[in-house]
Amino acid sequence: MTAQKIIEKHEPLPENLLSILHDLQDANPRHYLTEQDLNLAAGHLRLPLSFVQGVATFYTMFSLTPRGKFIIRVCESPPCHLLGSTTIAEELMKLLDIQFGETTRDELFTLEMSSCLGVCGVAPAFMINHEVYGNLTPQRIREILGEKRREA
Ligand code: FES
Repeated sequence: MTAQKIIEKHEPLPENLLSILHDLQDANPRHYLTEQDLNLAAGHLRLPLSFVQGVATFYTMFSLTPRGKFIIRVCESPPCHLLGSTTIAEELMKLLDIQFGETTRDELFTLEMSSCLGVCGVAPAFMINHEVYGNLTPQRIREILGEKRREA
């Protein structure tokens, strides 16, 4: 579906801006908002482009640069932190050979930090795109990355 068609599914009301930006970003295989997306959203809602840009840069769930096919968001809130999220983060950086905020050269994985994912009972946890994984261990991470590589 084109960006224009995605936008037209929403009433031209300013309160629909976040939904529009989410839908546009979800439709992009690289999980980011293009300059054209922001322009179209601003035009549809009759909002200044600078306002739309401000919203898109304020929320960490939006990106204005291309990301990997799989976005790994590691929970860094206290319960996960206490149960080893630092080890999980270090293991991911080692296995993927990137830092947080970066994307692997094969464009498969992007590493990001996140606040609580709402599954503290299975801490430490991360999310890959819309799927949550808990009770993580270095061994489990290797298995998950292998599954994602096969899926790609
Ligand atoms: Fe990590 Fe809640 S603190 S899921």
